[in-house]
Order: sequence, then structure tokens, then C-alpha cells
Amino acid sequence: MKFRETQVIVFANQKGGCGKTSSLVSTAAAFAASGYSVCVVDTDPQCDSTGNLGVDPDAMIRQRRYTLADAYLSKVPAAQIAVTPEDRFGGLISVVPGHRALSSVEIRLEREVFGLLVHNGISEDSMEELRHEHRFRLRASLDSLRGRFDVVLIDTPPNLGFLMTSALVAADWCVIPTFPSGYDLKALQVITRTVEKIRKSYNPGLSLAGVLLGNYDRKAILDKEIHVALCKRFTPALVFATTIGRSVRFRESTERGITIFEHPDAKEQAANCAALVKEMINRGAKGAFGATLNPFPGTELVEQVIDSGLEDVETVNG
Ligand SMILES: Nc1ncnc2c1ncn2[C@@H]1O[C@H](COP(=O)(O)OP(=O)(O)OP(=O)(O)O)[C@@H](O)[C@H]1O
Ligand SMILES: [Mg+2]
Repeated sequence: MKFRETQVIVFANQKGGCGKTSSLVSTAAAFAASGYSVCVVDTDPQCDSTGNLGVDPDAMIRQRRYTLADAYLSKVPAAQIAVTPEDRFGGLISVVPGHRALSSVEIRLEREVFGLLVHNGISEDSMEELRHEHRFRLRASLDSLRGRFDVVLIDTPPNLGFLMTSALVAADWCVIPTFPSGYDLKALQVITRTVEKIRKSYNPGLSLAGVLLGNYDRKAILDKEIHVALCKRFTPALVFATTIGRSVRFRESTERGITIFEHPDAKEQAANCAALVKEMINRGAKGAFGATLNPFPGTELVEQVIDSGLEDVETVNG
């Protein structure tokens, strides 16, 4: 173990196509390239990070192996679900594979609650207790990974439903990936509020690690202005100084099912992602990642940001 404790980091944003999976997979590869052990947990029924790391969810089912859906439906510990593609990343990246069945998990769990109401006549309070336990199932399952990996990275689907909630309940840190476009920036206020709500209601240990700007055009003045405005609005402590540059290499990697570190012509982009992970680790050395309890920016900053809205950012974006 390179960190004192396993760090569970969720990449969350209800906005679709804002770079959650690309940045998560690149971060996983960058951590592995620096010798950190990583487990990627895919809560998205689209299974993009699962596929990108070379795991086929249907093959898992054919081999009678578990997927993450079993963590929710049958309380299977994630350590029993994780697979390690030994031929990639020197075996340093494991995957808890997603499956399309994840999309029906919430309905199936709710059906159980109603079944108990109809057949056993359980009380409203008991129903709420059950729902509460369902929200904590992922967290309970991921407990089995603590102490086994340096970092656990959770990919999330593009909506604020049950799967996203359970991922935020399970994490220590939240990274919010965003692209420099108007729609993406509007989405920031919603996800920031959601993180705060989950922190208050279910997971006081959840901290915002930072907003991560991806698909960033280094030649565009507008993109630079958006980064500056984000830093001003969120404070630099809540925005990664490293941005992920716009490059067709990322799309090529997505198409080929490889990480940016495995792309033969993407040395510059891989170095960019390595710099991001270095920033995460350096911030960690200043107090994060196990050294103190609430080391990054502190939740009072998040509350200030929410109170003051995001007008500057929206103005820059026109
Ligand atoms: N830095 C970048 N430069 C160019 N293209 C990028 C960059 N980062 C991501 N992309 C591309 O943008 C698209 C969306 O990215 P990605 O799949 O990571 O988003 P997502 O938030 O995970 O989407 P979803 O919400 O559907 O899960 C992909 O085709 C990806 O290759
Ligand atoms: Mg995705």
C-alpha cells in the first residue's frame, strides 16, 4: 500500500458525455504507471470503463462469475467480484465489472420492499430502513476492497438516480469532470448540490476533491477564461490546476478500447494524465489521502460556492 489507507474516489456528474469515463480510466492508468494498485468499480449500466479495461460483462455471466449487480442484489463483497486483467498494466488495475442489469437494480430492490409490505405488512419505518440499507449496499460491498488497493475509482452513470446516490454514499472523495461548454457548466451547480446533500444526509466523510476540466482547448481563450472563472468561483482549492487537453487521441482510445497510456501515439496526452495524478498525490502530501480527515478544501468552501451560485462562470460562457 502506497497510501496509509485505501482512497475511494467517485467520478460523478449527471451530465452525459462530460469525460467521466475517459478521465477515470486515464487516472487509473496513470496511478498504475506510478506503481499504485487500483480497482475500478463500474456502476454505469453502459459499462464503458469495464469494456475499456478489457473486461466483457457478458463473458463474466457465461463463466458464472459475479458482476457489480450482484453487490446490490445479493450483497456480494466487491473483492469477490473483482477481476484483474493480468496482461495489462502489470496486473495493477482490477475491475469490478458493471452489467446492463444494473439499470434494473433500483426497481428490483423496490419490488422487494413492496413485497414485504404486501406479504408481511411491514411498517413505513421498516420500509424506510430497508431503503436506507439499499443505498449503503455498494459501500458495504466496497469495504472488502479497503486495505487491498491504494485507490478505488468509481465510474457513474449520467443521471442522479439510485446508482449515483449509492456511489456518492460509498466514496471518500468526489471528482467532478466537466467540459468547457455552457451545458456542462450549468450541470455543475446541480452535482455540487447533490454532493453536499449526500454528505449531509448519508456520508459525512465525503469531500469534493475538485472540478476537473477536460476536452480543454489550450489555444482557445474562452477555455482559459472558463478555467479562471471556475477557480474564482470554486476557489483554486476546488479546481484541478491540471486540465485534460482536447485531443483526438482520447476518442481513438475510446474507440479502440485502450487507455491513453496504451495508445502508441499519445505520449503527450499520457504525460498530461500523469501530471493530473501527480497533482492529486501532491495535494495528498499536503494533507489529503489518509493523512487527515478532511484535508482537501473543507466543506465550508463548497457551501459558499453553492450560496453564491455560478454566475461568473455562466457569464464567461456567454
Ligand atoms: N480530452 C478529450 N479530448 C477529446 N475527446 C475527449 C476527451 N475526453 C473525452 N473525450 C471524448 O468525449 C466522449 C465522452 O467522453 P466520456 O465517455 O468519457 O464521457 P462520460 O461522461 O463518461 O459519458 P457518459 O455520461 O455517457 O458515461 C468520448 O468519445 C471521449 O473519447
Ligand atoms: Mg461514462
